[in-house]
Amino acid sequence: MPAILFRSENDSPEEWAERLEERIPGLDFRIWPEVGDPDDIQFALVWKLPSGALSGLPNLRTICSLGQGVDHIFADPDLPEGPRVMRIVDPWMGRAMAEWVLLNVLRFHRLLPEYEALQAAHEWKPMACPETSKRRVGILGMGELGNEAAESLISLGFDVSGWSRTEKSIFGVTSYFGADQLDGFLARADILVCLLPLTDETKDIIDADLLGKLPKGAQVINGGRGGHVVDEDLIAALDSGHIAGAALDVFRIEPLPPEHVFWGHPKVLVWPHVSAPTNADSGADQIADAIHKTFAGEAPDNLVDRARQY
Ligand code: NAP
Ligand code: GLV
Repeated sequence: MPAILFRSENDSPEEWAERLEERIPGLDFRIWPEVGDPDDIQFALVWKLPSGALSGLPNLRTICSLGQGVDHIFADPDLPEGPRVMRIVDPWMGRAMAEWVLLNVLRFHRLLPEYEALQAAHEWKPMACPETSKRRVGILGMGELGNEAAESLISLGFDVSGWSRTEKSIFGVTSYFGADQLDGFLARADILVCLLPLTDETKDIIDADLLGKLPKGAQVINGGRGGHVVDEDLIAALDSGHIAGAALDVFRIEPLPPEHVFWGHPKVLVWPHVSAPTNADSGADQIADAIHKTFAGEAPDNLVDRARQY
């Protein structure tokens, strides 16, 4: 049988070997850098690759991300051109992200940071909170995750808009698309949620210019990638008061270095990249199916467009 090559910075190879061998008895599972005969490798299962880890594998057909994002694959300057790139697309992860977005939107909407500060000062100070239909939430990225988050927000009555590359028709969501419509989208985002993939087009998108186009007092929630945010620009916008708060799950360097300003910033909530983790059971089912298809010479599901990088 052909072999699969595993490489992850975060996940246990032994656990993944066990899960996949349960589903594919006799699977030849190799852990990078113990590649063995490179001719055997047809499938690579990866999360954050050292550059060049997948070069020199002449029969590699599929590179699969151990998560929903694929930026870590395209970050390899020596990525071989031939193999297809695919990812997990898991409704369970969509629901987890929707839950996290909802939690952070409600935290800002119901003034939780303010009440926590008041409690610390032993102060009793009721404040007005608008109804959800008056709170405008804008979601950057209306794919698998953006859609699910939008549905959850709509169910609570929030005024939701989304920005994507192509136009969307989603019940209850005002669709903005393309670079030309970004400013209009930003002007009505009291709470901005980023669920974009990290690509050449979207990197550094949350910079001083974008933040300046949000309404004064807006809040920012990032569940996409750390590379979407220009950290210094966000910190400056928080310090000037133009942006009132940020909840961040992803960072340029992970783990977030102990000296980073975000850790101690009173307006920033730091999450350690936990909003939508890969579900081992449903993820393993999808990956086993993709391995079967690859070994049978068929195209697996959830392929990524290499030119678009997502
Ligand atoms: P997806 O289904 O591929 O959706 C991506 C969305 O972004 C699409 O709506 C796409 O527009 C839009 N988009 C891409 N490039 C754009 C551009 N240049 N301008 C405007 N819109 C653009 O991705 P997904 O599954 O929702 O996941 C999104 C990202 O979330 C992942 O790539 C990953 O980085 C991140 N993520 C984070 C976690 C976590 O735990 N923090 C977990 C999973 C995923 P079109 O629909 O028009 O193409
Ligand atoms: C997590 O960040 C993922 O991309 O699945």
